[in-house]
Amino acid sequence: MMGPTLRTWLLAVVHVVAAQSLTNSTFSSAVPSSAWSPPNTSTTTTASSSSSFLTSLPVTTTSATPLPATTTSTTLTSVATETGPLTWPISEYPFTPFPTPTLAPIPPVYPETDPLNPPPIGTDYNVVPDFAPAWAAAYGKAQSMIANFTIEQKVNITTGVGWMNGLCVGNIPTVANFPGLCLQDSPLGVRFTDFVTAFPAGITAASTWNRALIRARGLALGQEFYAKGVNVGLGPMMNMGRVAQGGRNWEGFGADPFLTGEAAYETILGLQQSGIQATAKHYINNEQEWKRTQESSNVDDRTEHEIYAHPFLRSVMAGVSAVMCSYNLVNDTYACNNYKILSDILKREYGFQGYVMSDWGATMNTLSAVAGLDMTMAGDITLGSGTTYFGANLTAYVMNNTVSEARLDDMATRIIAAWYYMHQDQGYPNVTVDSFHPYNPLNQEVNAQSNHDQLVRQVAAAGTVLLKNEGNALPLTKPKSIVLVGSDAAPPVSGPNEYADQGGDPTGILAMGWGSGTTNFTYLISPYEAIQARAREDQTTVSWDFDNWNLDQAGNDAIPAEVAIVFINSDSGEAYITVDGNVGDRKNLTAWHEGDQLVLAVAAQNNNTIVVVNSVGPLIIEPWVDHPNVTAIVWASLGGNEAGNAIVDILYGAWNPSGRLPYTIAKNASDYPAQLVLGGTATDILSIDYTEGLYIDYRWFDAQNITPRYEFGYGLSYTTFEYSQLVITPIDASVDSAQEDLIQNWENGGASPIAEGSSTALWLHMPLFQVTFNVENTGPVYGGEIPQLYVHHPPSAGEPPSILKGFTNIELVPGQTGQASITISRYDLSVWDVVRQGWAKPNGTIGFSIGASSRDFRLNGTFPV
Ligand SMILES: *[C@@H]1O[C@H](CO)[C@@H](O)[C@H](O)[C@H]1NC(C)=O
Ligand SMILES: *[C@@H]1O[C@H](CO)[C@@H](O)[C@H](O)[C@H]1NC(C)=O
Ligand SMILES: *[C@@H]1O[C@H](CO)[C@@H](O)[C@H](O)[C@H]1NC(C)=O
Ligand SMILES: *[C@@H]1O[C@H](CO)[C@@H](O)[C@H](O)[C@H]1NC(C)=O
Ligand SMILES: *[C@@H]1O[C@H](CO)[C@@H](O)[C@H](O)[C@H]1NC(C)=O
Ligand SMILES: *[C@@H]1O[C@H](CO)[C@@H](O)[C@H](O)[C@H]1NC(C)=O
Ligand SMILES: *[C@@H]1O[C@H](CO)[C@@H](O)[C@H](O)[C@H]1NC(C)=O
Ligand SMILES: *[C@@H]1O[C@H](CO)[C@@H](O)[C@H](O)[C@H]1NC(C)=O
Ligand SMILES: *[C@@H]1O[C@H](CO)[C@@H](O)[C@H](O)[C@H]1NC(C)=O
Ligand SMILES: *[C@@H]1O[C@H](CO)[C@@H](O)[C@H](O)[C@H]1NC(C)=O
Ligand SMILES: *[C@@H]1O[C@H](CO)[C@@H](O)[C@H](O)[C@H]1NC(C)=O
Repeated sequence: MMGPTLRTWLLAVVHVVAAQSLTNSTFSSAVPSSAWSPPNTSTTTTASSSSSFLTSLPVTTTSATPLPATTTSTTLTSVATETGPLTWPISEYPFTPFPTPTLAPIPPVYPETDPLNPPPIGTDYNVVPDFAPAWAAAYGKAQSMIANFTIEQKVNITTGVGWMNGLCVGNIPTVANFPGLCLQDSPLGVRFTDFVTAFPAGITAASTWNRALIRARGLALGQEFYAKGVNVGLGPMMNMGRVAQGGRNWEGFGADPFLTGEAAYETILGLQQSGIQATAKHYINNEQEWKRTQESSNVDDRTEHEIYAHPFLRSVMAGVSAVMCSYNLVNDTYACNNYKILSDILKREYGFQGYVMSDWGATMNTLSAVAGLDMTMAGDITLGSGTTYFGANLTAYVMNNTVSEARLDDMATRIIAAWYYMHQDQGYPNVTVDSFHPYNPLNQEVNAQSNHDQLVRQVAAAGTVLLKNEGNALPLTKPKSIVLVGSDAAPPVSGPNEYADQGGDPTGILAMGWGSGTTNFTYLISPYEAIQARAREDQTTVSWDFDNWNLDQAGNDAIPAEVAIVFINSDSGEAYITVDGNVGDRKNLTAWHEGDQLVLAVAAQNNNTIVVVNSVGPLIIEPWVDHPNVTAIVWASLGGNEAGNAIVDILYGAWNPSGRLPYTIAKNASDYPAQLVLGGTATDILSIDYTEGLYIDYRWFDAQNITPRYEFGYGLSYTTFEYSQLVITPIDASVDSAQEDLIQNWENGGASPIAEGSSTALWLHMPLFQVTFNVENTGPVYGGEIPQLYVHHPPSAGEPPSILKGFTNIELVPGQTGQASITISRYDLSVWDVVRQGWAKPNGTIGFSIGASSRDFRLNGTFPV
């Protein structure tokens, strides 16, 4: 091979990244370079009466009863499934020995990595951090800790104390010298406590397409968990948004596995840098809320590997400590009871060395331990039942050798190892949340917020997507008069936490969805307050009308204003709360509170109508998108507690929009490839066949030639960019001879042989090609561009026309040209070969495009493989 050596070009890449830095100065300070120290604690006390506020708390029960487990012999075990016992020899793969590191480190490509000291942020995943030595050291300590544990002690390490029996939403008790664990929601903030930050939701972080910001968000969130003494943060969430109406999509990172995988990777590196354990969830195929405990997602092996499991693979590569199995069934076997999913794919193929916990109440029987479940949460069979499938049951199963003691040792070792791996044995802060007693002064003992408001504002602005901007309607320049229309512009009527778990019809700005993936707002800045503050500076006349239902009044109010800004929203959440007939999932893809009519009423009277949308996901906006008086559309996602300020930063150009859609906005709801599956009875298991296979979101629109309204990856800026000078350079790297043989095999069309860690192996993921190109800012203002790389496989591969395999960000002043770089690995060019059970290069020419969206290609090339 020709070209620069790996080391040389990587230094060059690092240089480019540093030179690019990030948008403005406050922004780069968002990523602290040194280890974090706990924030100052302030102690305030509130008068408290002991409270029993929990009447409105979620109680998730599972009404589907699995068949009883049966044992056929001491070496063959049957695990109950909905269709009958699934049998495998218990000796086949009862637990994973952890792979010991055999490869020499190749800094900086394959550096030995401690989770508290992650690799720097690259433009792409050109570093493959090696966490194996850190795991090996942790396993050694864990094994010696449990060496003299009794069976009951080891079982107690695996069994949560039960719902509402501890300070956190999940608690592992103290056992001998192990102090136990506090597990706490959520993916966007510390749930059920005070003095914490409400970060922008996962979907907003993904909309930034900015690795540095996603990493910084993970780190800041992790610091808040740490400050509160939480050992295990229950996030990030990485389900795929297969169905546009899916209730929890907003907790995750959009409808593309690569974007989701990179967002998961950076979030986990950030979270764990703070010292907390991250949890990749919900594993797997939990793609709708309706009947989530009674639906079987039936997914073919290739689709599972290439689409739904990929973000979990990237999580393992980020060194994630824990994985949470989901409520649903996969191919008629509950996910937490699914050997193929837990043991075969996650622990064998991916070489996952942490532990698998159940979603709350998702454990289905004691033999789940044999399938690969390591920890049952919250511990009880149904939340609050006081019974458990682990605890005394697991002890009995181990005593009579139905579950081998070696497997129990593996479970306890994995859990304790993750604690050592994160160095939580070294002076970890005490728990200062009390989830179920909000008035316990303990909740106010530690103020965890630090200066995270600045980062929230940046992520929320960077995650805002400008969809339409006619005649330079935006940015605003000292308008004489503005009218704000719609309740979404306003502060919520009864304060920022009008509903427990945000589970109600929002009366003001929507800044997060509802359910367990939430936090209480310490404060919440609405657009109304932020625009008023800006109006003071500009001496602009501001009026407002927050009543969505009086359309005549809204139209009249809009007549005199130079600018009319209409705020609309759309909410969703978790199934245990129903809001306006939405049982978690959205019942439609239209704006709430008659938002479409409100836009039309205002646009009929004002020729400069700007629409701001706060939505959990795509909406159908056909009723007004092409209206000549709708001059701009700002897709503001879910911004967290600085939502209003971030909207002001976009509207006035303090932040030049750089966000990109993490999903497709269609013209019709029926254009999407998959819909909710509704119906079913109290006892049925709903079958959800993933018949669209690899063709989710834009992959479907591309293959079926359906024109979307706004495609995946789309977003405008206040400036313009031109692309030129595409260069593709093979990367010449030296690896040991065993890896060399695997590379040869792959180059000759062979599939990666399946083995422990085979899908996360160095040779498969190390950079193979570097793609560079120039980007020039050809417009009037400073701004950031998000170049995207899409691979086009040969027809023989049976892949969708274009699939995202790289992206980067570059910021330029007007007239400036910068070089962007994206790296591509063998894994990026491979497809999952079902017959050979490995990753293989398709036969034929693999092309690619660099562009500004999934349909706006600027440069094209082919990979010389
Ligand atoms: C296990 O070992 C620890 C330290 O080596 C010791 O403190 C403890 O008493 C032992 N426990 C039992 C049950 O032997
Ligand atoms: C294990 O947990 C059970 C239930 O919480 C408790 O009764 C028992 O004392 C614990 N045993 C040990 C050895 O910690
Ligand atoms: C969170 O908000 C809910 C709903 O307003 C409230 O009942 C609860 O007390 C709050 N919790 C804390 C810890 O402040
Ligand atoms: C589900 O069934 C499909 C079709 O038989 C198969 O390809 C896939 O591997 C199965 N997945 C699991 C987790 O069993
Ligand atoms: C053991 O599991 C069974 C269900 O298989 C349950 O009924 C029982 O209550 C459990 N025992 C304990 C002690 O939790
Ligand atoms: C082992 O113990 C469990 C729990 O008591 C019981 O359900 C199972 O039948 C026993 N198995 C054997 C082989 O004795
Ligand atoms: C944590 O709690 C223990 C026991 O209550 C106490 O001795 C210790 O001082 C506390 N540590 C901190 C940092 O507050
Ligand atoms: C869609 O659902 C929202 C929220 O429940 C509701 O306000 C709206 O009226 C519904 N739209 C249609 C067209 O039914
Ligand atoms: C656009 O707004 C103007 C008022 O500025 C109004 O006269 C006109 O009818 C509107 N156009 C449409 C298509 O509603
Ligand atoms: C919009 O309406 C204003 C006020 O009626 C008028 O001055 C302006 O020319 C109109 N702009 C366009 C583009 O029609
Ligand atoms: C961001 O930085 C650029 C380049 O230094 C500068 O032109 C622009 O004014 C800055 N924007 C803000 C909001 O500070």
